[in-house]
Amino acid sequence: MKLLVCGGAGFIGSNFVRQRVVDHGDAVTVLDKLTYAGREENLADLRDREGFAFVRAGIEDADAVAQAIDGVDAVVNFAAETHVDRSIAEPDAFVRTHAVGTWVLLEAARAAGVRYLQVSTDEVYGSIEEGSFSESSPLAPSSPYSATKAGADLLVSSYFHTYGLQTVICRGSNNYGPYQYPEKLIPLMILNALHGDRLPVYGDGMQVRNWLYVEDFGRAIGHVLEHGAPGEVYNVGGPDECPNIEVVKRIIELTGADEGQLEYVTDRPGHDRRYSLGSEKIRALGWEPQVDFSQGLEQTVSWYRDNPAWWEPIRSGDYREYYERQYGSKIKD
Ligand code: NAD
Ligand code: DAU
Repeated sequence: MKLLVCGGAGFIGSNFVRQRVVDHGDAVTVLDKLTYAGREENLADLRDREGFAFVRAGIEDADAVAQAIDGVDAVVNFAAETHVDRSIAEPDAFVRTHAVGTWVLLEAARAAGVRYLQVSTDEVYGSIEEGSFSESSPLAPSSPYSATKAGADLLVSSYFHTYGLQTVICRGSNNYGPYQYPEKLIPLMILNALHGDRLPVYGDGMQVRNWLYVEDFGRAIGHVLEHGAPGEVYNVGGPDECPNIEVVKRIIELTGADEGQLEYVTDRPGHDRRYSLGSEKIRALGWEPQVDFSQGLEQTVSWYRDNPAWWEPIRSGDYREYYERQYGSKIKD
């Protein structure tokens, strides 16, 4: 297959591109704006592979998209602003990328007559105290991040209904694994634990997330691309759920950090309490997760421990300013 992967230099996108190029022999063009979260280093091992190409551009750039889409079989769109805390502080880019960017990509896919897969999130359903969301649950997003992602999903569905564009949507639960930017809970806590920095837990730490190893999400997206039915939505939930405080305590154990580093801090405004996805539909299609949370977390801690060359430049750059604004304290070198 020949794929255009937008946002392929980010965390999940780069893991997906690696699977498609290495395991499936696909030709892949990555189109990525390289925001703070996108890094060419995430794709360094693929640079010289036959069929791999990289274009630096935003998905809202219609000319660049029209050039990059030429000759591909399908578009997979990961490109997004993805951090909920940043969407609360500065929602502008979320609206631009998710609304305008998705529209530009859909128009290009329609003009080229190619399939389109939108990568979405469990957050579009909002929070659920008990039970799990199915694909037909109503959308009830609560942050600027999830509201703009929900808007993008609706736009994608409208292109199926109105123009007959062959679309599919994959809604994943919380991903973790190698190459995740250390603003997200798990890599932030691992690096802070390893450096003796404080471990800032929001509110009472009893919010629950449904953890999905990044390679399992990549395999699910590939599976839906090959076997999904046009116009459908597929939930992709991880095998285990866990309250945040338990996640942080497991990281303390795995890194040998001190429990005294743990600190309860002011809660995130509008913080969703629990996410949970029912994944029967994609399981019936033949996918299931292969990595449970305890195994995946161990692998992830080892990857960060073994790859300081990947995270050192982040911790010494603009990230420090973000960190100080967000947490009101400095990180150690
Ligand atoms: P990420 O922040 O690591 O990467 C996002 C990538 O998109 C970066 O490479 C960035 O440079 C690029 N990008 C941002 N704006 C762009 C634009 N306008 N044009 C082109 N490229 C742009 O994010 P991630 O965690 O890998 O998430 C990827 C996708 O998966 C997102 O759509 C997200 O909503 C979805 N998702 C994430 C999770 C999760 O737990 N991380 C779970 C479910 C779904
Ligand atoms: O559910 C899928 C979503 O998961 C994706 O769509 C988003 O792109 C992704 O960022 C993620 O959103 P969350 O808000 O769930 O992830 P985050 O890693 O920011 O936070 C996970 C939980 O940990 C959440 O309850 C907030 C809490 N938290 C987070 C940080 C960064 C803390 O307690 N302390 C922290 O410092």
